[in-house]
Amino acid sequence: MCGIVGYIGERDVPSILLVGLERLSYRGYDSSGIAVLDHNELSFWKKLGKLHALSDELGKLTIKGDIGIGHTRWATHGIPSEENAHPHLGPKKKVAVVHNGIIENYLILKEKLQKQGMLFRSETDTEVISHLIEFFLKDSLEDAIRNTIKELSGAFALAIISETEPDKIIVCRKGSPLIIGIGKNENFIASDINAIIPHTKQMIHLDDNEMAIIEKNKVTIKTFNGEIVNKEVQTITWDPVAAEKSGYDHFMLKEIYEQPTVVRNIISKLLVDGKFSFNHLKLSRQELNNVNRFIIQACGTSWHAGLVMKYLLEKYARVITDVDISSEFRYRHKVNGINEIVIALSQSGETADTLACLREAKSRFYKVLSFVNSKNSSMDRESDSVIYTYAGQEIGVASTKNFIAQLVSTYIFTLYLSQIRWTLTEEEIKAKLDELKKIPDYIEKILSETEKIKKIALKYHKCKSYLFIGRGVNYPSALEGSLKLKEISYIHATGYPAGELKHGPLALIDENMPVVCIAPEAETYEKMISNIEEVRARKGKTIVIATEGNTAIHHCADDVIYIPEVSEDLTPILAAIPMQLLAYYTAINLGCDVDQPRNLAKSVTVE
Ligand code: AGP
Repeated sequence: MCGIVGYIGERDVPSILLVGLERLSYRGYDSSGIAVLDHNELSFWKKLGKLHALSDELGKLTIKGDIGIGHTRWATHGIPSEENAHPHLGPKKKVAVVHNGIIENYLILKEKLQKQGMLFRSETDTEVISHLIEFFLKDSLEDAIRNTIKELSGAFALAIISETEPDKIIVCRKGSPLIIGIGKNENFIASDINAIIPHTKQMIHLDDNEMAIIEKNKVTIKTFNGEIVNKEVQTITWDPVAAEKSGYDHFMLKEIYEQPTVVRNIISKLLVDGKFSFNHLKLSRQELNNVNRFIIQACGTSWHAGLVMKYLLEKYARVITDVDISSEFRYRHKVNGINEIVIALSQSGETADTLACLREAKSRFYKVLSFVNSKNSSMDRESDSVIYTYAGQEIGVASTKNFIAQLVSTYIFTLYLSQIRWTLTEEEIKAKLDELKKIPDYIEKILSETEKIKKIALKYHKCKSYLFIGRGVNYPSALEGSLKLKEISYIHATGYPAGELKHGPLALIDENMPVVCIAPEAETYEKMISNIEEVRARKGKTIVIATEGNTAIHHCADDVIYIPEVSEDLTPILAAIPMQLLAYYTAINLGCDVDQPRNLAKSVTVE
């Protein structure tokens, strides 16, 4: 996703902007640029490719100025190119704009402005904003911006500077996040906290339809209609050092190895002195007792966690549960039932599709419970109730530790529901919690056998297509394992319910097709063995994830990865670890950019 940074103060503007953009680079980008105001002289630089291209150019220059904005672009409208990189300037180059989001009516606006004789330099939607501001620029920059945003439809986070008023940055938020950092005789803006945290822990989160006029010693926040808004300055408590690699080659690997600690942390937060810690929920016990249906909606890995949650909510809490991909949920003309609760799952808390569904559900008077990792995110602030997944900051674009965190936190919540709905006895709940507490050790055991997974990754890394199969709670595991592989190694991979093989995918199987088979001890183990045999009979290569001690599996597996014995409900947690490592080492073998895979972003804040 695009990244926005801005600075006003006495320090070196270009270096603060570049460091900020670097700290946002994990969001994914294809080009970058900055604009700097030196009194009333506006300069700008933009480069295609990685940030070092921009910093190399800026390093040759002496740039003066005390205000600047910067941007890393993740292309939506217009190919990755220098012309399409931000900032974009108005026709007279008096105004510079950086933007995160999509202006849905930009073509109409562009045609109108072209009829006024304005020329455009790029193919982007963003450029209509800089042109509109200059078009409206009569008296005050603020008024010109206010008139401009009235014309825009779609989502935008904007940062704007202008020669005409060289003592301020003006920012606007509608649908894409923007944060203000409060310093001493300096102020900062950014798309997310990461870019600001090295300078200050005092933050203001803008909400939708709000704008801010940011001067060196003053921040004024208004609604788009111009009413003054008093916002709380929040102090960020978490440690910025945690956002470093700590000796690992990649954030993704660091985050894979953090998973035992993450699980221990979640248990300590959601189970205090052996008791469930959900009293903060604004959903009453009666509402949870009477709920007839949960509708889970999420994207990507979070959707996979939702699929696992469905199995366990229905199995233990005995509640009918639907699971929707967010971008589909909005448009399926759902029939409202009674006593229904929408559940949103999101690591970032900013995913546009999931956030849009949350808002839609609330507009239709649903209660929304969200499992969110990022505190102060939009979903954190807009949900009726939030359960944090306590994964810590997840930098790698491929979600690993937060997937495990989602599985663990939703499992604990399911057991809590089973307690208040009397669908499990106290003894049954205690036994399940006691087993859950062993999971961190089991993950550590799997992580201690990474060398074997490295060898398997090397053996198959040149294959052009993989299949992942599983049954029951491990059908979502198959989906997640295939997503991990494809998103960081760019190898085509598909996750499938194992029982569906003979309804089509079996035609794909040959000696060049590795099939990852998730076959732990489970209710459908024998059926999984039949499916593995179907693959073998067609010369497919079988990489089987099996339960420790199962030696018979070797007769139908080309390669075996063992996981410790646990109840079937918890196998998606353990099975995920070897598949994360398989994806990671395959991507390394192929020389891929593991933390910032091409075309992808950590937080997809556009629909
Ligand atoms: C997962 O590895 C991907 N990065 C992606 O599918 C991600 O899970 C999805 O974009 C949802 O993100 P969220 O959890 O922040 O909403």
